[in-house]
Amino acid sequence: MPERGATGGILSSVAKTFYIETFGCQMNAHDSEKVIGTLQHEGYTQVTDEDSADLVLYNTCSIRDKAEQKVFHRLNEYKRLQGEGKRFGVLGCVAQQEGEKIFEKAPFVSLVSGSASYRNLPEMLRRLEAGENRITGLDDRQTDETFDTEFTARSNPHRGYITITEGCDKFCSYCVVPYTRGKERSRTSESVLTEARRMADAGFTDIQLLGQNVNSFSDPIGKMNFAEILAAVGEVPGIRRVRFTTSHPRHFTKQIVDAIDAVPTLCDHIHLPVQSGSSAVLKAMQREYTREWYLERISWIKSAKRDISMTTDIIVGFPGETDADFEETVTLCGEVGYDSVFAFKYSPRPNTPAVSMSETVSEEVKSQRLQVLLDRQREIQRALYTRHEGKVIEVMVEGFNQQRGQIIGRTSQNKTLNFTTAQPVLPQIGSYVPVRVTKSLPNSLVGEQAGDAEVPAAVLKQAQPVGLVVLQ
Ligand code: SAH
Ligand code: SF4
Ligand code: F3S
Repeated sequence: MPERGATGGILSSVAKTFYIETFGCQMNAHDSEKVIGTLQHEGYTQVTDEDSADLVLYNTCSIRDKAEQKVFHRLNEYKRLQGEGKRFGVLGCVAQQEGEKIFEKAPFVSLVSGSASYRNLPEMLRRLEAGENRITGLDDRQTDETFDTEFTARSNPHRGYITITEGCDKFCSYCVVPYTRGKERSRTSESVLTEARRMADAGFTDIQLLGQNVNSFSDPIGKMNFAEILAAVGEVPGIRRVRFTTSHPRHFTKQIVDAIDAVPTLCDHIHLPVQSGSSAVLKAMQREYTREWYLERISWIKSAKRDISMTTDIIVGFPGETDADFEETVTLCGEVGYDSVFAFKYSPRPNTPAVSMSETVSEEVKSQRLQVLLDRQREIQRALYTRHEGKVIEVMVEGFNQQRGQIIGRTSQNKTLNFTTAQPVLPQIGSYVPVRVTKSLPNSLVGEQAGDAEVPAAVLKQAQPVGLVVLQ
């Protein structure tokens, strides 16, 4: 008997398989979980290699570094797989950006869809199955108000994402996101809380709220702002940890810091991308804040009762960035004391205003600046991480590293804390364990178990893998 798909279409009685490859930010990773959930609901089974899949999907990112060329290069590799009944689809930000050009350059591709059209996937799949070619989902960026997805296949049973805002209206002069993800829109707080409660019931204890500008969340029916939804998710019974990314300094309020101080489940970590320490460069980037404005928000975070870890994103070599501007970025890192910095060389992106700025910085200088920044940051981190030595910190167990004989834990501050135990039984994945920090490294901590593991009730119910799971 043929099976019936969710929207009533007839699927083939032969089991269909798909393979998906994902690049980009956490939002893209979570989008893939939604795509996987939808495909599974439509009767498809996921496979781990492209050779044996009936449908090969490529979820792309176009944030920097010749993303388009990379996509076409990868598609070229897929070419050898072409065969009877095998179909190819390109999803995500390069799909949205390049659109139908993808069909011209890679004629064996049958589907091109941006993220706002994934809710139409069931219909697009049916057209694919009927043998149609050149199917596009590119027009929904401005109309997709809700972006709730019915089916999500979460890859981790303990930690999960919830998208609360989509798109971006900021138009920073270097960035493709407003073009690939469309205008900014927020979900209702009710739908966010329903998803959080459902996840807690299913055994998730760690939730990460996602958005390109997560902190500009504003309930479309006016119920809650970002700090309020953050606190409300943190109060959902069963939830032990709530993270959020990415915050924009422009919308960063003192209320967010107060919420972290007041609600213990909110993680003590804030990722607040600065991009540059020079107000002149920030102006050219159209970031809508100055160095001083940014540092004022940092002072709110530093004056919190909790030790809140701070991380950031930085772009070096933006057009017009002088040695003195760059030096301001280096000094800002020292002043703030980030626990981690994600630094990138400026990469010109199609359609963005910065692409036509004339005072470009050479690749050589960009590379030098990146190295100087990373070296300086390494020193800063080495000094900062020592503050944890001797402390007992709670971690969530993520897995085991057999080679090193260590248990892999994650702290509320989002640091890796690898530890050993003298107890006869290893703690379960998903359990919470107090760990005494015995050593600090520039990027992680090392310790030993300092008390009994606490296994959340929902985790107890979940089947645990037999033997050790090697994560690294
Ligand atoms: N919405 C987030 C950032 C999303 S993109 C924010 O506003 O902070 C993630 C990071 O990629 C950015 O913070 C920036 O540091 C980097 N990035 C974006 N466009 C880039 C470009 N054209 N070249 C180099 N890095 C870029
Ligand atoms: Fe890009 Fe700026 Fe929007 Fe962040 S805020 S996604 S950097 S345009
Ligand atoms: Fe990349 Fe799109 Fe995310 S460009 S960083 S996948 S929003």
